Amino acid sequence: MNVDDLLYSMRSGAEQSDDAIAEFVAGVSSGAISRPQAAAWLAWAFQRGLSDRETVALTRAMTHSGDVLEWPQGTTLIDKHSTGGVGDKVSLILAPVWAALDMRVPMISGRGLGHTGGTLDKLEAIPGFRTDLDESELRRVLAEVGCFITGQTRALAPADRVLYALRNETCTVESIPLIVGSILSKKLAEGVHRLVLDVKTGSGAFMQTLEGSRQLAETLVRVAKGYGVHCTAAITAMDRPLGRAIGNGVEVEESIACLKGEGPADLRELVIALADHPGAARVLDSGEAYEKFEAMVAAQGGSLDGGLRDPDADRYLIAAPRSGFVTRVDARSMGRAAFVLGAGRRRAEDGLDYGVGLWMGTALGDEVRAGQTLSTVLHRQGRALDEAIAWVESGLEISDAPVEVTPLVHDLIA
Ligand code: URA
Repeated sequence: MNVDDLLYSMRSGAEQSDDAIAEFVAGVSSGAISRPQAAAWLAWAFQRGLSDRETVALTRAMTHSGDVLEWPQGTTLIDKHSTGGVGDKVSLILAPVWAALDMRVPMISGRGLGHTGGTLDKLEAIPGFRTDLDESELRRVLAEVGCFITGQTRALAPADRVLYALRNETCTVESIPLIVGSILSKKLAEGVHRLVLDVKTGSGAFMQTLEGSRQLAETLVRVAKGYGVHCTAAITAMDRPLGRAIGNGVEVEESIACLKGEGPADLRELVIALADHPGAARVLDSGEAYEKFEAMVAAQGGSLDGGLRDPDADRYLIAAPRSGFVTRVDARSMGRAAFVLGAGRRRAEDGLDYGVGLWMGTALGDEVRAGQTLSTVLHRQGRALDEAIAWVESGLEISDAPVEVTPLVHDLIA
């Protein structure tokens, strides 16, 4: 089929054959299909949705657009992926937890997107930490430590790099079949056997309704299982931030606390729930998970000895205007506050300030007194401080009556 025929067929709304989808993805990777042509295809896919069969074909074609890693027989590989949230630092903790439990974790992660944080950006707050391991390096770190966290190599799922950037530019991110193809192609290219998905729901997530998140979780699990991967998904709360730290350096600090058996209760609860292993709490409390984290950091070129990058941010305290109960801590507003301070990037080429962000002094459901610190804003010499304060204040609510806090884990899909 030539490109015109492919596009006319897609435009007409006809269900696409596996071959037509494979040709589209191959054309995207080779450049035979131009960016505007690919953007039009994505917009039609976004508009009409894709059938289950088309979604499976898209995932397969994207997975095989590059190398698929193979590992020695007898090695069971596990990985986790979150659909993205605010304060979500679980990957930094879960990879070493699993490694401390003798599992192998080849984790390929992404950068922040919009108001959501990215695992690679957080880890790069550690001086020297490399997120660009090549294939021989990632094999070495996995063998020596049991886990690595790195970025997509050029050879893994290259079609996703092109399509993901186009979706970002054309507002076609929030499409279940396109998200499924994007997430699973990267994970299947890693060669994992077991996959744990954290599908976020609420204001800070890409899927804001429970119904949409459930549909996404079910499709992800169904398609992954079709490839022989043992896959489960947890649908978890992202109406409020996870933990107390939002930003890059502060989230590394909070992850280290959790890895040492400390840190906020909700973060520990989610790590243990997603770990799905009876030994998870033990390796957090014994320090074994932290030892794995230190080993991974060292193996990836980082050092925790001299502190994190961009230290000494300035502090501004937001105090409770009245006594009462915290009935709203809106995840999206807190994410936007950290973003405008410089924790996220507006364009792909922007740099980050690793020292800015928020420490939340309170959580949903807490009782507070007038004057108590609700949030410490870490800013760089006042840059975007007023905007950040406005975001934090607009996302917090204090009422006379307590609110019932919804569970952190809404549902498990297996
Ligand atoms: N994460 C991804 O890797 N891809 C998406 O499309 C959404 C979240």
